Amino acid sequence: STPSLQDIIGHAKEYGFVFPSSEIYDGLQAVYDYGQNGVELKNNLKAAWWKAMTQLHENIVGIDAAIFMHPLTWKASGHVDGFNDPMIDNKDSKKRYRADQLLEGKAEEYAAAGQADKGQALLAEMGRLLSAEDLDGVRELIIAEDIKCPVSGTTNWTEVRQFNLMFSTQIGSVAEDSSVIYLRPETAQGIFVNFLNVQKSGRMKVPFGIAQIGKAFRNEIVARQFIFRMREFEQMEMQFFVRPGTEMEWYDKWKETRLKFHQAIGLPADKLKYHDHDKLAHYANAAVDIEYEFPFGFREIEGIHSRTDFDLRNHQELSRKKQQYFDADLDENGKPFGNYIPYVVETSVGADRLFLATFCNAFTREMVGEGDKVKERIYLKLHPALAPIKAAVLPLVKKDGLAEKAQGISDSLKSTFRTVYDDNAAIGKRYTRQDLIGTPYCIAVDYQTMEDDTVTIRHRDSMEQERVAISELKAKIGQAVAL
Ligand code: GAP
Repeated sequence: STPSLQDIIGHAKEYGFVFPSSEIYDGLQAVYDYGQNGVELKNNLKAAWWKAMTQLHENIVGIDAAIFMHPLTWKASGHVDGFNDPMIDNKDSKKRYRADQLLEGKAEEYAAAGQADKGQALLAEMGRLLSAEDLDGVRELIIAEDIKCPVSGTTNWTEVRQFNLMFSTQIGSVAEDSSVIYLRPETAQGIFVNFLNVQKSGRMKVPFGIAQIGKAFRNEIVARQFIFRMREFEQMEMQFFVRPGTEMEWYDKWKETRLKFHQAIGLPADKLKYHDHDKLAHYANAAVDIEYEFPFGFREIEGIHSRTDFDLRNHQELSRKKQQYFDADLDENGKPFGNYIPYVVETSVGADRLFLATFCNAFTREMVGEGDKVKERIYLKLHPALAPIKAAVLPLVKKDGLAEKAQGISDSLKSTFRTVYDDNAAIGKRYTRQDLIGTPYCIAVDYQTMEDDTVTIRHRDSMEQERVAISELKAKIGQAVAL
């Protein structure tokens, strides 16, 4: 059966994947910590992305820029002036909401009631009001639609205000010397400001890309749905620099390439779809989301944006440093394309959202056994390359040298892939323990092992067992868990 979000949250906590941040103090809203298994899964996802982007594309290189950036960066990027969400408070419950999300919820209600046209019209009207910055109009629309506060049930709304999502702090210790600095709300700008550094030092030729994985911060007004929308999260972004006029070609190519990536790491095609944007972010001339079907519906996991020369041009203006590239390739008239500011196609995926999608997809609950022995079995059907632990070595019993034998096997494998040794409790229980965290292979050491140096490999998904020589384990499992 399909898991609920509560099943996912419960499992993630119970088996060391995700914990609420500072939980002993009752947690911090929309901030989460990854546990011993979560960090492995997340690292494996990041490694898969890094390999797909950099290792498999010779014209894409990586960087790791600082979280703090010069304050003018965010002026140039448009975030100081434009990175706002319209918020509204209910005067009775004192709860704060995103005005656009209240209206989107209403549009979904219309759609669910078979009035999709009405929903579409509402969204179009909202889009029009927001682009015209008519916040009073947005409030009037909320009232006209009779949208009630989910907590108080009343329609007693405040005015709509713009709320900037960037976190700010002070840099420098002495008050007079210090100045306001932001925690980056996207990793992309660290790439833009290093465009020429990388291009020159790496002698990169357009088209080329720069990839980065790092933390980003947004003071989200409505933070719900577990790690789907967090205030501190991680992005995996790639800016692809192209010759102006070729951006739509690259946009289409990346759109396709990125969807294939999600399928390659195990997300099924029927749970993924594109969603074209009608409402474009302040920097984009075309944008599409790749959505995954979470327990709460299809939602964005990745955005692919054609950002034109918006960012580089603004950085050039504010920094007064040319952000140009000289293209020696010849045009149709046999002349070099010459100097230009490249256009950018960006792919941007949240590591945490990809984690959540992968985790939801892997969570499997089945009935196994027959007759009165039927029982529920839960396991994580993770792609072996993503599993936190690849193999568990389990001696059938601790005596007669089996424990030492198993320990030796575990030691011989652990430098090749993540292996654990476990001799605690009945073997069935130990299999279950590994199933719950998604370990694809359990290696059982029994009395026959002591005679012929063979073991059984028990496969997580089928629960089938096969007999293999110890000497084959490294190659056999190593191959299956490689990306
Ligand atoms: N540089 C472009 C950019 O940042 P975005 O659509 O705002 O675009 C890209 O964000 C991706 O980052 C999203 O698709 C999502 O996976 C992730 N993301 C954004 N905000 C997030 C949040 N509050 N919590 C978790 N992930 C988030």
